[in-house]
Amino acid sequence: MAFLELANLTKRYGAAVVVNGVNLAIDQGKLVCLLGPSGCGKTTTLRLIAGFAVPDGGEIRVGSRVISKAGAAKPPERRNMSMIFQSYALWPHMTVFENVAYGLRLRRLAEADITKQVGAILDVTKLGALAQRYPGELSGGQQQRVSLARALVVKPQILLLDEPLSNLDANLREEIRFEIRSLHDQYRYTTVYVTHDQTEAMTTADVIVVMNQGAIDQIGSPEDIYKRPLSEFVARFIGGTNIFRGANAGNDHVSADGVVLQCGSGEFGPSGETAVSIRHHDVKLSETQPDFTSNVASAMVERQIYLGSHRDYLVRLQTGATVRVVSDVAVDIPAGRQVWLYFPPEHCRALAR
Ligand SMILES: Nc1ncnc2c1ncn2[C@@H]1O[C@H](COP(=O)(O)OP(=O)(O)O)[C@@H](O)[C@H]1O
Ligand SMILES: [Mg+2]
Repeated sequence: MAFLELANLTKRYGAAVVVNGVNLAIDQGKLVCLLGPSGCGKTTTLRLIAGFAVPDGGEIRVGSRVISKAGAAKPPERRNMSMIFQSYALWPHMTVFENVAYGLRLRRLAEADITKQVGAILDVTKLGALAQRYPGELSGGQQQRVSLARALVVKPQILLLDEPLSNLDANLREEIRFEIRSLHDQYRYTTVYVTHDQTEAMTTADVIVVMNQGAIDQIGSPEDIYKRPLSEFVARFIGGTNIFRGANAGNDHVSADGVVLQCGSGEFGPSGETAVSIRHHDVKLSETQPDFTSNVASAMVERQIYLGSHRDYLVRLQTGATVRVVSDVAVDIPAGRQVWLYFPPEHCRALAR
């Protein structure tokens, strides 16, 4: 049975439904990412779990006990959860050691236990040498590690992180997201991690929950979400893709933008309205006409950009629609040239609309 459950969870601010009937079951020890664009309700969902906000409908259960429901919520300090904020929220007048020790002092642990437990977590988070510094004397990455150490030292039942890396520069973000994942492998706290960054979600998560306008669009492993998106929104948001909107032509074929595309996977719309998603790097570009009757289109190179490891093409179909293609650097065709596109059926995914 799931450890943390959101059942039909709903939150309104005025007329706006910010969290709209969310159902989510999280198993113990899993790291789940809530992923979606700014404003889709991620932080509000996290605040509902933490107890900083009270739902208008539905409920939240931990180990089958209801901790939040409409009009009633157990206060945050009685939830045994740790929350990490984007801003770190460290106490500037306390040393690293004291910042981390604070939660244990509240729990009235003996001084010897505090020294031991804080020492252990500072080692794990590579802060041992900085224990006597103040937050103002630390880099952004070090401050974020202190907030992680402070959250982990109290051995929370549930760990909540809200865009924990967004104040760090790109290199540090990459390093710390690996650290967060390896800390999770070590401690296995049930974790809900909020981010708008798909790479961050794919690096850290066991399960990704894609949110769109207050509701869940899809739940799955990183590979599931990337390879088998169920909607245009998910296909576009995770990894970037070309979308062709057209009509179901029967027999696994979709007719869109003057091209007939056989699709190797996906759902065909019952009404006949079907879109097709194909990733930029799955489209083949060539100056000679491929030997296939479907999944081929003639087009014109509009622009080509050399990016070292690959080339990024923008190609225009005869209907005027554009297609992005990422190719091997060896495929070097200048702008203005007539080309052929091939969309391999195994990479064409039908999306019911
Ligand atoms: N306290 C609040 N009062 C009114 N509107 C709010 C409040 N908190 C969030 N919202 C609105 O709810 C929506 C979702 O916000 P939020 O959960 O912060 O999104 P995200 O974290 O995904 O960017 C936004 O439109 C935001 O303006
Ligand atoms: Mg947010």
